[in-house]
Amino acid sequence: MRILGIETSCDETAAAIVTDGPRILSNIVDSQIDRHRRFGGVVPEVASREHLTRIVRVVERAIDEAGGPGVDAVAVTRGPGLLGALLVGLQFAKGYALARGLPWVGINHLEGHLCAAALGDVPPQYPYIALLVSGGHTQLYLVERFGDYTLLGGTRDDAAGEAFDKVAKMLELGYPGGQAIERAAADGDQEAIRLPRGLDRRDSDDFSFSGLKTAARSYLATESLDVSRRADFCASFQEAICDVLTKKAVRVAKRHRVRDVVLAGGVAANGRLRELLSGRAAAAGIRAVLPERGLCTDNAAMIAAAGWFRAREGGWSDWTTTARSRLPLGQAPQ
Ligand code: KG4
Ligand code: ZN
Repeated sequence: MRILGIETSCDETAAAIVTDGPRILSNIVDSQIDRHRRFGGVVPEVASREHLTRIVRVVERAIDEAGGPGVDAVAVTRGPGLLGALLVGLQFAKGYALARGLPWVGINHLEGHLCAAALGDVPPQYPYIALLVSGGHTQLYLVERFGDYTLLGGTRDDAAGEAFDKVAKMLELGYPGGQAIERAAADGDQEAIRLPRGLDRRDSDDFSFSGLKTAARSYLATESLDVSRRADFCASFQEAICDVLTKKAVRVAKRHRVRDVVLAGGVAANGRLRELLSGRAAAAGIRAVLPERGLCTDNAAMIAAAGWFRAREGGWSDWTTTARSRLPLGQAPQ
C-alpha cells in the first residue's frame, strides 16, 4: 500500500509517499521559515496563506519523486497545531481522496512524531518509553502497542523547544532557536555557567523550564557576552535542558522495565540530546532509538507512516472528521 502523507500543522508544507514497511519513497518539506523569520516566530495567518500557495506543488513533487501516481490512501495531520494551517492540509487531503475514491485518515501530529522512529533501520520494540520534545510539547509516554499511549509526565510550563526558541530570541540568534543555540554552543563549555534543572526531584516525572528561562534572562541582563562567553552560555543552557530530559527518560524506562526509549519531536534533532540519551540509556542497559535528524522536525513521512499503521488497524476517517488545534495523544482518532 502506498500512502500519501500531508503535514501543514505549523510552518512546514510537507508531503511524502510511504510504502509497506513502513518505508519512505519520497519526502518533501517546503519550509516557510524565511517568511516568518522577520517576525521572530510563526505568524498563523501568514502560515495558512503560504500553505495554500505551496501545497499543490509540494504534493506533485512527492508523487513525482516516488515514481509517479499510484496512491492507495491519504494520511493528513488533523491536530494539534495552528487551526488555519491544519485546515489547508486537511481540506486538500479530503479533496484529493474524494476525487479519486481513496480512503483517508486524520492523524494526530504527536503520533506522527513517534512514528518517525519506525522509519529507521531498527524500529522500536513494544513496550517502549517515548520522550516527545517539540516546540509545543515535552512529554513522557509509555507506549504498549501502536495507538496505546499512557502519559507519564509532561511539562508544567514551557515546552523544551519553546525554551530554546525564547532564549535564542533573548540572544538575538533568530528563529527557530534550537538549531541556532546548538550551533552557537558548539565551541562552548557546558560546565561554565550553572543553570537550574527544573523539578530535578526523584519523585516527579514532570518537567519545568520556566525557572531555567528566568535564570537565563537574569544572567543575560547582568552580563555582556563576547562570542566565547556566549558559546559557554549556550552550551550550559543546552546542557541544563538535555540533562533533565535524559535523566528522567532513562529513569522512567528503568522503572517500567522497557528495552527501548524512543526520542521524538523537533528537539530530538539536537546532537547533545541524542548523545546524552544514548550514553545514559546504554549505561542502564536500554536502547535509545533515535530517528534520523531530518525526520525529527516536522515532515510528512512520519504522518504517512502513522497512516500506514492506522490502515493496518482499519482505522479510516469519515468525511465529518475535522481539524483540532488541541488534540491530546491517545484521544480517539475519529
Ligand atoms: O516538532 P517540531 O518541528 O514542531 C513542533 O511540532 O513544534 O519542533 C520544533 C521545535 C522548535 O522549538 C525548534 O527550536 C526545536 O524544535 N529544534 C531544536 C533543534 N532543531 C529544532 N531544538 C534544539 N536543537 C535542535 N537542533
Ligand atoms: Zn512537530
